[in-house]
Amino acid sequence: MRARLLLLLLCFLPSLIASRDDSHDSSSDSDDDEACPSLPLSDHLLEFYIGGKWVAPTPLTAAADDETTTTTNSSSFQTMNVINPSTEESIATIALGSLADTNAAVQAARDALSTWSQQTSIPERIALVEQLLHIYDQRQEEMAQLISAEMGAPLDFAREAQVGSGLYHIEQFLQAMEYFEPEKLLPGVIMHDNDNENNPTTLIFQEPVGVVALITPWNWPMNQVTLKVIPALLVGCTCILKPSEVAPLSSLLFAEMIHQAGFPPGVFNLVNGDGVGVGTQLSSHMHVDMISFTGSTRAGKLISQAAALSNLKKTSLELGGKGANIIFADIVDDGLQDIVKAGVWSCFDNSGQSCNAPTRMLVERSIYDTAIQIANDTIHGDDIVFRPAHHEGDFYGPVSSRVQYERVQRYIQLGMDEGATLVAGGLGRPDGVTRGYFVRPTIFADVTPDMTIMQEEIFGPVLSIMPFDTEEEALEIANGTPYGLSNYFYTRDKSRRRRLAKSLKSGMVEINGIGADEGAPFAAVRASGNGREGGLYGLEDFCVIKVVSGM
Ligand SMILES: *[C@@H]1O[C@H](CO)[C@@H](O)[C@H](O)[C@H]1NC(C)=O
Ligand SMILES: *[C@@H]1O[C@H](CO)[C@@H](O)[C@H](O)[C@H]1NC(C)=O
Repeated sequence: MRARLLLLLLCFLPSLIASRDDSHDSSSDSDDDEACPSLPLSDHLLEFYIGGKWVAPTPLTAAADDETTTTTNSSSFQTMNVINPSTEESIATIALGSLADTNAAVQAARDALSTWSQQTSIPERIALVEQLLHIYDQRQEEMAQLISAEMGAPLDFAREAQVGSGLYHIEQFLQAMEYFEPEKLLPGVIMHDNDNENNPTTLIFQEPVGVVALITPWNWPMNQVTLKVIPALLVGCTCILKPSEVAPLSSLLFAEMIHQAGFPPGVFNLVNGDGVGVGTQLSSHMHVDMISFTGSTRAGKLISQAAALSNLKKTSLELGGKGANIIFADIVDDGLQDIVKAGVWSCFDNSGQSCNAPTRMLVERSIYDTAIQIANDTIHGDDIVFRPAHHEGDFYGPVSSRVQYERVQRYIQLGMDEGATLVAGGLGRPDGVTRGYFVRPTIFADVTPDMTIMQEEIFGPVLSIMPFDTEEEALEIANGTPYGLSNYFYTRDKSRRRRLAKSLKSGMVEINGIGADEGAPFAAVRASGNGREGGLYGLEDFCVIKVVSGM
């Protein structure tokens, strides 16, 4: 769920391994007792942003026939605690929306649509996004603290990678607007000279889809919010954002920024809620024209179903992944050490919570044992430091929630039960850690393609390594899951590069560690979804085409 960040992360992550002295300090009890700094929480935790205003949730208890019970109070709507995964403590309480709140937000977006899409010019919309970029830039530190507290990213990592990804995407969409054509001649038609009557007149309009609902996950909060909100607004859609209820604090700040930037009322709306409630209400809403969702394949299927059965709204889905990282023996002279270490850290960064992580390392048999040694040394060679996420410096943070912690434990147990060799890590919290959802970065070797840990997305720091003998075999294993997000391979053989790039069934293929250029979309196929996010393709994903002739 991050487009171009791999290179940035690879530079950043190896330094997460600190010296043994540091690690001794970090596991002492005094650290646990240290109070978290106070957070720059929104004043609107129990409200939603609808029609340009912060509004209280619609009371659930208000009876239509009883004029006296119109008082609202905090027990008249559903609430939920936001848990800091480093401390397992509640840091905020948010309101969860009901159908009435969802309907109000959709109505506000509909009311704003025709003015925003047809009466504002592209330069006006660009100017507002530039203003938002300026505010986002000014308020980066608040954003970093909120993301770090809500989903457990170490503070410096939150500043650099998490908040940085939002800055990157906003800038990159503004650049891509230079190439966006709201209207163009049908490609391939030839204009005849001097004969206006017979000139082809077919135009292609790329029009905003309309009212779009945006459902975002907790693992890269601002990465996903900016990948959806910014292109939707730039092409002229109006939107309703439902951020993950696990990590809603960053999005409340984002809504404040939208307000501060001066976007017209109703163009952007935010309703907090869970998938079963607001998520389902949005995906099945008759007046929502498109749903853009990033999250699990399981939820993506439910959303597609609800979208189809309501009004056949357009869907854009970025779902799970199970990336293969195929390492051929012909690459050894280019530095096997660096390649394997990079593969390990790309799998473990953000506590393993990235859908494009290369979680399956396939190594040609002649270099298999060496690769395992290097992977093992990457984890054992220095002690990895675990700390509560609000600390500064380089260390490893928790996974985002208890649910996620238990899920990862279950997969580690399955890996052992199904006969994989546990090389590093394993069950339970890291040594010396007594609270928080900290997982031991875990490496399995000698896995086979049919094992559950090779088939299902774990979404935690668990790497599976296995050997292969031929290119055909590696390709078959790589393509042997339902997913199709991102695959990686290393080889010096040019014709093999082309063959594999063509044959791998995924939206993205990265060769020899060279990440895609700025403006490239994050693309998914098969059970990973159908989305194209980022750059020009990301703008066009929020458009429908209209064919106009005879104008
Ligand atoms: C708040 O709402 C609850 C449940 O609807 C009700 O029992 C209670 O009396 C209300 N409190 C106030 C102060 O209005
Ligand atoms: C991994 O490294 C540890 C610590 O150095 C060592 O005890 C263990 O045997 C190694 N495992 C493998 C499979 O090489």
